[in-house]
Amino acid sequence: MKIAVYPGSFDPITCGHLDIIKRSCKLFDKVIVAVLDNSQKTPLFSVAERIQLIKKCTKDIPNCEVESFGGLLVDFVKQSKAHTVIRGLRAISDFEYEFQMAMLNKKLAPDVETVFMVTNLNCLYISSSVVKEICRFGGNADGLIPEEIIKDITDKIEKGV
Ligand code: PNS
Repeated sequence: MKIAVYPGSFDPITCGHLDIIKRSCKLFDKVIVAVLDNSQKTPLFSVAERIQLIKKCTKDIPNCEVESFGGLLVDFVKQSKAHTVIRGLRAISDFEYEFQMAMLNKKLAPDVETVFMVTNLNCLYISSSVVKEICRFGGNADGLIPEEIIKDITDKIEKGV
């Protein structure tokens, strides 16, 4: 069984993330979306909220699972019996950080491969940070965040609920 891990902060999940999830689920038997639980970061959405949002928009993808992880990514990958890390690449500006991370993970765990997927053209400009900013100022987030979670996200940002 070919299992891949798609890690990230997902604060919150965007249409770009969902596109990578859908496409990678066609390539692997199982894809585990791994939400980083990092006490040193102060995300807008708690780990539980981020997991719930991802589950809501991946409920129709049978080979997609959502979990959280702390510590080193490669340890979570091994513990999940996976051998592949999936990352999306939007632009050349992503590359330097992604390349460093892939090399470090390779050094830590030579058996773990990083597979980069090029983001779809219509998602190239989307990031969780811009989504939060647009929602904070009441902008239209259609096409930026999955439809089924737009209300959850705007409610949280506007009303803090
Ligand atoms: O969505 P992000 O914030 O770009 O995701 C980054 C993430 C979670 C993939 C990365 O920070 C990570 O893997 N963190 C776990 C700690 C780790 O393994 N660090 C060593 C490799 S850089």
